[in-house]
Amino acid sequence: MSHWTTSEIPLQAGKLALVTGANIGIGFHAAKELARAGCTVILACRNQQKAEAARQSILKELPNANIEILSLDLASLVSIHAAADQFLASGRALDLLINNAGVMALPTRQLTADGFELQFGTNHLGHFVHTGLLLPSVLRAPAGRIVTVSSLAHRGGKIRFDDLRWDKDYVPWPAYRQSKLANLLFGFELQRRLERMEAPARSIVVHPGVSVTNLFHAGPGQSKNLFMKIIPFFITIIGQSDAQGALPTLYGVTAPEAQGGRYYGPDGFREMRGFPVEVKAEAQAYDPELAARLWQVSQDLTGIRYPL
Ligand SMILES: NC(=O)c1ccc[n+]([C@@H]2O[C@H](COP(=O)([O-])OP(=O)(O)OC[C@H]3O[C@@H](n4cnc5c(N)ncnc54)[C@H](OP(=O)(O)O)[C@@H]3O)[C@@H](O)[C@H]2O)c1
Repeated sequence: MSHWTTSEIPLQAGKLALVTGANIGIGFHAAKELARAGCTVILACRNQQKAEAARQSILKELPNANIEILSLDLASLVSIHAAADQFLASGRALDLLINNAGVMALPTRQLTADGFELQFGTNHLGHFVHTGLLLPSVLRAPAGRIVTVSSLAHRGGKIRFDDLRWDKDYVPWPAYRQSKLANLLFGFELQRRLERMEAPARSIVVHPGVSVTNLFHAGPGQSKNLFMKIIPFFITIIGQSDAQGALPTLYGVTAPEAQGGRYYGPDGFREMRGFPVEVKAEAQAYDPELAARLWQVSQDLTGIRYPL
């Protein structure tokens, strides 16, 4: 059986993509491969020096690439609105929106600028607002795609509606699981809403298996707990490369056969590594009532109102 690789990415000339957290890891490789395929790519990053370094790195390999930078801190509603204002002022249609940025299993509870727990606030609420604000541009594209990056870690996750900020009994992994389950609920609910209004855009969810990136150093690697501390080292043994981890994202965003409302991840052992195929999320991720409740709460918390 042949595997899907970057060689199958159709020509993307004339398209515009925006990738959150594109300065490193999976987002960086997704941005680079889209640029290689001819897409103009916006690196939406919170650190402008890192973003510029990533841009230079892509240009070194692909001198003719069209790479732009947008300042975006998903842990700040002010920043998300400012980024959206800047993008919308350009009046361009957005063909591909990749909700990739994330933080994982932070050892101590941290809050966003607006007081949300940092993982739920960045991974879910930040992208919820960012997508809602940019949606009119995606809907102007002839066949827009929104790809949201979830995780195997959504399994066993629970949306703690009674304590989304983790004011009580913060635990790093369940907080991450909650945010990644929220990514799936959001991505599938968005597809249902797009279908209801017969919009040309699709919403797709992907996961990168287990990929060696800075995510593990920045999260569990900062813990004082020895078991958590050694996780980054353990990941370098069992994980695949970040370039390989970007394949499901690239499949979701470019493969003609990738369908809205579907979930794609690696085909290998326990979906930890390999090449993109359709995979199954946990049953609760497909629950429309749970998704609708999360959607409503997300709107109430952030003040954003979707045009769907
Ligand atoms: N690696 C894996 O095995 C794995 C497994 C499952 C899911 N995922 C998911 O894959 C996605 C990409 O992660 P990765 O593994 O590539 O990790 P990574 O290399 O650490 O990249 C994470 C990116 O997110 C950015 N980011 C973090 N907080 C942000 C904020 N508040 N505003 C804007 N950008 C922010 C980071 O920026 P800085 O560089 O400035 O920190 C970085 O660019 C995440 O959603 C993660 O949950 C990864």
